[in-house]
Amino acid sequence: MKIAVSILSSNYSEEETIKKINETDADYIHVDVMDSTFVLGKTPKREFLHTSRKPLDVHLMVSRPFDFITSFALLNTESITIHGELEDDIEGLLNYIKSCGIKCGLALNPETSPKAVSPYISLIDEVLVMTVTPGKGGQELMDSTLYKIDILNEMKKEYKKDFKIIVDGGINGDTIKKVSKADVCVSGSFICKSEDFQERIDKLRL
Ligand code: DX5
Ligand code: ZN
Repeated sequence: MKIAVSILSSNYSEEETIKKINETDADYIHVDVMDSTFVLGKTPKREFLHTSRKPLDVHLMVSRPFDFITSFALLNTESITIHGELEDDIEGLLNYIKSCGIKCGLALNPETSPKAVSPYISLIDEVLVMTVTPGKGGQELMDSTLYKIDILNEMKKEYKKDFKIIVDGGINGDTIKKVSKADVCVSGSFICKSEDFQERIDKLRL
């Protein structure tokens, strides 16, 4: 399983957090973006993302993603995920992300059915299953969201489409066992609130 480190809740400054992740074998840096409309929280302006030696996996928890996509397209961004619950032109936004040469994905809030991705299945490269309520780090994983991993794996077969299944929220050395059928796990506070990031990442490697 691949590991994306979320920099949302860390004991260190943004610059130091990214430096410490660069020194590990993590696969991605997961960048949460919140605008205080789609979710309550608001992320600070990020100023050191260009120092990342890991590809960025960007999770937009914003109600109007368009402008954010444009600015992330200038960085070392591998994928951008928007939310399936948006009242916006989801298909247009996914196509726009792809036109920037970036992989695109849909994120699902805990109460959203995995079937919500069906209309976009031919476009998407990944589905991000929120295993906590979006908005802040350090929450407990919700077991009620885990059934989606199996359904999405079934959908991959049914549609013959190899999108990545990402799980995000409350992942640590204990809960990792529950999400072993996902392709990528996002983990934030478990890693960034410790001293030795690599030691924590090793605990997530299955
Ligand atoms: C929650 C974010 C997550 C969060 C994960 O809204 O999407 O990426 O930062 O952090 P932990 O691992 O602390 O739950
Ligand atoms: Zn996230």
